[in-house]
Amino acid sequence: MTDLLIADDPLYDELYDVRREAMEMGNLIEEDANPAMGALRDKAPVHKGYLRELLNLPALHRHVSAKGKDGYTCFSFETCEQAFRDGERFSMKILQMPSIDGERRLAFLEMDDPEHRRHRATMQPMFVKPRTLTWWRQRWINDIVGSLIEALKKRDRAELNIQLCARVPVHTITRAVGMDGDDSLEFRNALLRTTSHSITAEQRGIAAATVERMLMELIAKRRAVPGDDVVTGLIAAELELSDGTRRPLTDREIMGNCRLVMLAGGGTSWRQFGITLWALLTHRAQLEAVRADRSLVDAAIEEAVRWNPTDPVFSRLAVQDAELGGVHIPEGSVLDICLGAANRDPSRWENPDAYDLHRRFQGHLGFGIGTHLCMGQNVARSEINVGINALLDAFPNLRLDPDAPAPYLTGGLEQRGMSGVPVLLR
Ligand code: HEM
Repeated sequence: MTDLLIADDPLYDELYDVRREAMEMGNLIEEDANPAMGALRDKAPVHKGYLRELLNLPALHRHVSAKGKDGYTCFSFETCEQAFRDGERFSMKILQMPSIDGERRLAFLEMDDPEHRRHRATMQPMFVKPRTLTWWRQRWINDIVGSLIEALKKRDRAELNIQLCARVPVHTITRAVGMDGDDSLEFRNALLRTTSHSITAEQRGIAAATVERMLMELIAKRRAVPGDDVVTGLIAAELELSDGTRRPLTDREIMGNCRLVMLAGGGTSWRQFGITLWALLTHRAQLEAVRADRSLVDAAIEEAVRWNPTDPVFSRLAVQDAELGGVHIPEGSVLDICLGAANRDPSRWENPDAYDLHRRFQGHLGFGIGTHLCMGQNVARSEINVGINALLDAFPNLRLDPDAPAPYLTGGLEQRGMSGVPVLLR
């Protein structure tokens, strides 16, 4: 394992601070938005207005293409599921930005079917369950978690949000793509800077060039000598075209796909891992139940994603007139899908605001649903599962540090995470 994995590099603190991340994006909200989102859901399944507007927060258009358009928000499980599944009316065009060369910034995430499905198919086989339990765990996750836990064993207390939760996903996805682990932070830093609001356009351009250079160099290397990683898999993959013929992916398509999974997989798993640990550490009986019966680890993770999904809202562009929850949504307006409220819909879950890993499992929307259902969900589950098991094995007295500030859920409205996860290990 590389030194950077366990090093006290200040860049970890800088890149893995949910409040700082939200301030850079301009969407910080300190208070828990769940009660207000729940009240709106209980009033009506769909409301006119952007989620931010309905929560009385200052306007902020995350998506450039939303500017000047009317907003609507759906809150109930039924309407959110319907919106996610109805790609014909509710389109991913909301994510598309004017670009000089027509390149899709977020690859197939920005596409609608059938184009989206054909592009996603070039990557999907590397992310399905048997592969995440074998290839991903055995090649990367087990070793990364193992080294981090060995380093923690030398300490009495730790900040798990930084020392474990942040490091597992960034090192997993960087190595799985095919890069050197020691490039993890430099790459992530550049990747985040490509969309940062707090730097100049010129600085964003420099960051984008760094991302492109690092990925293009890797692709050239793997074309010359194949490895056993995602880039090598993409070089071997074929893209099906609309006429049914197939061709290999271009370097730029491979680069776009890698950029997407490195963006989508770096921050989400970190924040959700922290939320899951917080849930367990503040519900001691459930933590002890999991410690005694490790088959409950998966339920602990799934319930955390239902209870507090790190990304509680995603948007779509209405590309046709639509009817949703009895509300007319005109073509050209933006729909915010408040899956955070849907995941606590009392018509689907009893006592939905409680974290209860023993509840009967019901599918939630924390990983989305329909054609854009999270492609990395089983990688995320594996990372968090291996991490929790290793923590419980190594530290029988694991508990929140009573001398540290009590952790709380914070960050941006669209990306929630923990202020910290300070623990005593002994
Ligand atoms: C617990 C952690 C995670 C959560 C809660 C999460 C959540 C989501 C959600 C809600 C979507 C759907 C977005 C939409 O419909 O607009 C999504 C899509 C996606 N996620 Fe995740 N994600 C997580 C981890 C990951 C990881 C680890 C990876 C990659 C290794 C990943 C890769 C993707 C990709 C590629 C998509 C786009 C799928 C498509 O457009 O077809 N995610 N994720």
